[in-house]
Amino acid sequence: MAILSSRKAQSDSHHSSGNPRVVDSAPMPEEEIPAREDGLRPRCLDDYIGQTALKQVLGIAVRAALGRREALDHVLLYGPPGLGKTTMALVLAEELGVKCRVTSAPALERPRDIVGLLVNLQPREVLFVDEIHRLTRVAEELLYPAMEDRRLDLTVGRGNSARTRALDLPPFTLVGATTRAGSLSSPLRDRFGLTQRLDFYALEDLQAIVKRAAGLLDLPLTTEACLEIARRCRGTPRIANRLLRRVRDVAAVRGGVKAIDGLLVDEALNLHHVDQRGLDASDRRVLELILDAYGGGPVGLDTLAASLGEDPATLETVVEPFLLQVGFLQRTPRGRIVTQAGRRHLEWEEKK
Ligand code: ADE
Repeated sequence: MAILSSRKAQSDSHHSSGNPRVVDSAPMPEEEIPAREDGLRPRCLDDYIGQTALKQVLGIAVRAALGRREALDHVLLYGPPGLGKTTMALVLAEELGVKCRVTSAPALERPRDIVGLLVNLQPREVLFVDEIHRLTRVAEELLYPAMEDRRLDLTVGRGNSARTRALDLPPFTLVGATTRAGSLSSPLRDRFGLTQRLDFYALEDLQAIVKRAAGLLDLPLTTEACLEIARRCRGTPRIANRLLRRVRDVAAVRGGVKAIDGLLVDEALNLHHVDQRGLDASDRRVLELILDAYGGGPVGLDTLAASLGEDPATLETVVEPFLLQVGFLQRTPRGRIVTQAGRRHLEWEEKK
């Protein structure tokens, strides 16, 4: 019990829902607007590291569309947050030589929001809609004919005198992004010509991403330091870049750092409680809770979320994918369980 309370106290002190986690894969405010991401995003397919299958499929589709002078077919990108869905939409627009209008479903609540965006599109432009599974019914219904027939069905007038008027739209590409492909209605899902999944990145791709970002930020990172960040960024470029910035802070405050090595990275990441595998206090809290309060599981998602004071959807789409990916957590028909590897990892981290 002493272990439980000290663990809990430690977790609580590091976990505050008001405070963004350094390893949170959701974008932080400064990363939300593409132009302000320190110029670290790749701009073209050649600079985009990893996701080889996705790049190949989209590269072919882009070249074919350019050859036919047509708009690219609508694209649905799905997968955990932080893996580069927005970046890919911007890259596609760049490759197509058109502008990308960026929005997200919660910003399209009123019909006029989506109408405004659609009527202002120029031929072959890209409209990127993040969190597309959150579109309202009305917004979806406006999108169906827009995507399929380039037609906007507007209702003019009210009550008995209400009439629909069809407005022609230019050819355009809708790029939709979601962390929950299963939550999309099937009519919407069916209107995408290309549906592609983004996966967690391989270690060597992450190393290359960190190396590229360090070059752009003019940071003298050793190979070992790149590897250390790559190991601890949860397979997610957005987190890798964020960790790199935290390392840069430590190096800047120390002053006179000629080379940023693995030791300095370790120190900076320990300061933020990011462990050797990239888990932070909230990940450890999930595993510890299952071990301490539910004997290692199985425990249902809703029960777990209630005990953690988290929203089940956030737990499922943001926290769990990485714990499942590293094999520390398993989903079974009866609930979540902590694996042997998960137990060993916690014990090992605790001993340090
Ligand atoms: N920065 C973030 N994601 C990237 C990627 N996939 N390739 C290159 N740089 C990146």
